[in-house]
Formats: sequence, C-alpha cells, structure tokens
Amino acid sequence: MHHFHYVNGALCCEGVRIEDIADRVGTPFYLYSHATLTRHFNAFDQAFDGIDRLVCYSAKANSSQAILTLFARLGSGLDIVSGGELFRGLKADFDPAKIVYSGVGKTAAEIDSALEHGICMLNVESRSELELINQRATLMGCRAPIAVRVNPDVDPKTHPYISTGLKKNKFGLTSQAALDVYRDAHRMAHIDVKGIDCHIGSQITEAGPFRDALLRLRGLIDQLAREKIAIRVVDVGGGLGITYRDEQPPHPKAYADAIREGLAGLDVRLVLEPGRVIVGNAGVLVTRVLYRKEGDHKSFMVVDAGMNDLIRPSLYDAHHDVWPVSEAAGQRPVRADIVGPICETGDFLSRDREVPDAPPGDLLAVMSAGAYGFTMASNYCSRLRLPEVMVRNDAFDIIRKRQTYDDLIAGESVPDFL
Ligand code: LLP
Repeated sequence: MHHFHYVNGALCCEGVRIEDIADRVGTPFYLYSHATLTRHFNAFDQAFDGIDRLVCYSAKANSSQAILTLFARLGSGLDIVSGGELFRGLKADFDPAKIVYSGVGKTAAEIDSALEHGICMLNVESRSELELINQRATLMGCRAPIAVRVNPDVDPKTHPYISTGLKKNKFGLTSQAALDVYRDAHRMAHIDVKGIDCHIGSQITEAGPFRDALLRLRGLIDQLAREKIAIRVVDVGGGLGITYRDEQPPHPKAYADAIREGLAGLDVRLVLEPGRVIVGNAGVLVTRVLYRKEGDHKSFMVVDAGMNDLIRPSLYDAHHDVWPVSEAAGQRPVRADIVGPICETGDFLSRDREVPDAPPGDLLAVMSAGAYGFTMASNYCSRLRLPEVMVRNDAFDIIRKRQTYDDLIAGESVPDFL
C-alpha cells in the first residue's frame, strides 16, 4: 500500500502532481511519500504489539537524513553497518541505546566510536572481531555489549547476491562455532554477552525461512542457558520482502506471528532490522525520456537516469514497474528497453518487457525505488547524484540538492609534481 496514484490522468505522490515537482527540481530525482514511510513503519512496529521489541530500521536501505530523522521521531532504533551510518544516525538524533551494529568488517576506530556512544550492541561476526572488541573495551575501561551473529544455514530462496544465511556465505558463525565464541566471550572481563543475532537475507517472500532460522537459534539459546549464559536480546535481522511485480510476501502481521511462535516461552527482548519493507514502496525514481531509438532487433527508450542512479536492474536483474507520469501513455504499451546514458550494455532500468509508450519529453516513474536506490548510487561517468524530494500531503520539500559539477571534484587535488 503506497501513496502514488493517478488523479485526472496525472500521477501524484499524495496530493502533489509529480510533473509539478519535475518542473521545480528538474529530472531525474528520487521522490518519497511521507505518508507511506510513516504508515509502513507503524504497521511493521504495531504487528509486534504485545512483545517487548525494538524495531531498528536498517539504514543501508535508505540513509538520507530526512528519512532517518522521520524514523527516529517515530521511535525507531537503527541498524548500522559502518561508522558513517553511526554518524548519520547520531545526527538524526537516534538514541544510541537503540542502535545495533552488524557487519563482518568493523574497524578498531568504528568499534571505539560505537562503544564511546554507548550503542545497544555490536553483532559479532567472528572470533577475531570479538577479540578486538574486548581489547578496545579494555583500553576504554568499559564492557562492550555484544550478540553473536549465527549463520543458521537456511535457504532464504532469494537472489544469491542478497542471501546471507547459508554456510557458504561470509556472514556470522555456525551454531557450533558460535557456541565456542560465546563460551570465550562469557569469560572476557570487558564483554557483556547480551544477545544472539541472525540475518538470513533480503527480499524474502515466505515466512518459512524465518521460522526455520529462529528454530535453529532456539537450540543454541537453550544450550547457552544450560551453560548459564543468559541471552536477553534476540535480534532476528531484516529481510522481509515487498511486492515489486507479483510477489506475495507475508504481511508484517503474519511475519510477526511466525516470530512470536519462535520466541514462545523465552524471556527476551526482540530486535528487528527491517529496511526494504519500510522504505521500498515509499519511493520512486522520476526520469525523463530523452530519445526513442529503433534498433534492428529492439526498440530503446533512452532516459536521463542510469545504472549509476539505480543499479538494482543491472546488478540483480531486478524488476521495477515503470509507470507513466501522464496516464495516457500507459494505455498504449510498447515493447522497448528503457536504457540510461551510460556506456555499458548493462545500463538499463527495464529490459524485454512492455512499457508505457512515452514520447521524448515525457516523464516516467520507476516504482519501488525507495530501498537500495539512492544508497547504492554512484558518480560513475561523472554523473551528478540526484536530488531527493519528500512529499507530505500537498507540499513537498527538497531533502537533498542535486550535486553540482563543483561537488564532483570537491576534495580532489592535483599533486605539485605534475
Ligand atoms: N540487517 C542486516 C544485517 C543486513 O545485512 C540487511 C541487509 C538488513 C538488516 C536489511 O535487510 P532488508 O530488510 O532491507 O531486506 N542491495 C540489495 C539488498 C542488500 C541487503 C543487504 N543487507 C538490493 O537492492 O536488493
């Protein structure tokens, strides 16, 4: 459920015509609906009513300051994976006690910063990381709250690049290895064993894999309890999928039921790290058709956004619906590839399917682009990063300016010896 719809043939975000925004900010741009963001966060959070839980929105899905600030104000915690995300989160006023830190490659400086700010917990992904955390906490004279990330070896049935809970993936530790790490951690004076963690993948569209993962975690929690190592927090990660085309992921309520079932009888606090399910369908990428081009085998629609702006189609062959901003063009679908201006064959937003027959000058909305859109964008081919706009009711605000050519070379220098 989102707030992008046609009114008198014009695509609107809440109460604002997208064409009016394009007139003001130019194209391409990312556009987010405040009502959708708020609704998705609240629906997800409320699905867990009755459970002691902390929803930690996963910053990597979309870490723009306005969006982080909105979630902080809605009471969210934050799931981070870098010092940069910690910086952003603190600037957006997240309570550090609601921040969890995952990732296989935390540096000493990042660990120090997390400990200094008193975050909720570090999710440890290896024995050597645990040793480093203990060392840093010893130097700082504090106890580092940690969870061990378990790799439950469950197939999330999603794209291989975004599946993380299989033995062959780099993430977490097997149950046996985790048990050994817990035993060591328990003996370390500067480690506070607080929880257990897992994250099995992203864009998961069935409840089964979540259920299976939790069952494996349960076995380990019970074993730890027998060894007098008490687990107080269970972090089940993120990964709940959304509808891009015709997927039917479980509703947050059904997802919550599966987790409720898995936690039955435990006296723990639940932590969740949703990203895509909150922001994915709350954002679109608006682009303008530059040219139409007939090849021998194919028709092309060349637009002003490219793979550097939205890399998901190129990287995962991901499907994003494309809607015409002027509804009429959608009534005459044509078969054409929608391609960007970049010098790579992989530079496409949609391929081998029917799309609205939009003439040059028309606007298109690439749907479901709120998650892993802007955050994965780059300056490839020295293209400028896009502006981002947020709509609330019938007003909009530019939450990030379009880069300028000067921004492009800021921070660079030419050595004297040249
Ligand atoms: N927690 C951890 C530890 C994660 O690694 C991730 C995502 C999340 C939470 C949030 O997962 P979500 O709820 O958004 O599925 N770039 C890819 C997705 C990569 C996901 C990486 N980790 C894409 O565009 O599909």
